[in-house]
Amino acid sequence: MSLLAVNELTKHFGGVKALEGVTFAVSQGEITGLIGPNGAGKTTCFNLISGLLPPTRGGVSLAGEELRRLPPYHRARRGLARTFQNIQLFGGMTVLENVLTGCHLRQEVGTLGALWPGAGVRRAEARSRERARELLELVGLAGRGDFPAEALAYGEQRRLEIARALAQEPRLLLLDEPAAGLNSKETEDLMALLEALQGRGLTLLLIEHDMTLIMGLCQQVVVLDHGKVIAAGPPAEIRRNPLVIEAYLGREE
Ligand SMILES: Nc1ncnc2c1ncn2[C@@H]1O[C@H](COP(=O)(O)OP(=O)(O)OP(=O)(O)O)[C@@H](O)[C@H]1O
Ligand SMILES: [Mg+2]
Repeated sequence: MSLLAVNELTKHFGGVKALEGVTFAVSQGEITGLIGPNGAGKTTCFNLISGLLPPTRGGVSLAGEELRRLPPYHRARRGLARTFQNIQLFGGMTVLENVLTGCHLRQEVGTLGALWPGAGVRRAEARSRERARELLELVGLAGRGDFPAEALAYGEQRRLEIARALAQEPRLLLLDEPAAGLNSKETEDLMALLEALQGRGLTLLLIEHDMTLIMGLCQQVVVLDHGKVIAAGPPAEIRRNPLVIEAYLGREE
């Protein structure tokens, strides 16, 4: 069953056709890779799925619901969370507070509750803190909760961004180059974390240039080049697909 359906998604920036009729599906419970050379349109695809940018044409549906008119906040509420190619944290806030911003997207506190916090709100807040600490432990940041986010090492910031996304309790997590800038040990840890998340039932869509990670983790891989899908299938097929090889080699000259 497909959780996410991307249908004829198209985005033009003036004369630049960043995406042109992109169609693919992400199956429930799987890790799907979205790969392609630099400038292929991968991040643009995430920006359209998460609702940061409106499409020129085409649409996206999550669990059968068309998301067309929903702003990012509402898409998050329906179970879509993401991380960014250029890490986007609240640098001045603590590590724990960053995760709590994700929890709060989930929490149902009405305006009145926010103005006059009673016992119910305080209980919800305590639950959020508890959950945030669990998530920090899960991503290997236990004990770092009170550090300013900007004081974390680069690889730790990447994991914090994942923890914040997980705090939204997503059904589908979009990761834009989570291994970028990580050393090989950190990349191994990341792979183990993503496998564990899949084990907990999360569905993942993953942009990555690290082919070891893509081939090691993904059940399906979608390849973009110049804004179009040039191949889609299991990693073993993708690896020997002549169009894919050509797209990568052709660009390296
Ligand atoms: N906001 C924008 N305004 C104008 N052009 C844009 C914008 N965002 C992306 N583009 C262009 O769209 C194309 C696709 O860019 P995109 O960032 O989606 O590629 P990518 O596959 O994520 O590449 P990379 O691997 O380098 O991150 C590029 O030509 C890029 O310059
Ligand atoms: Mg990108």
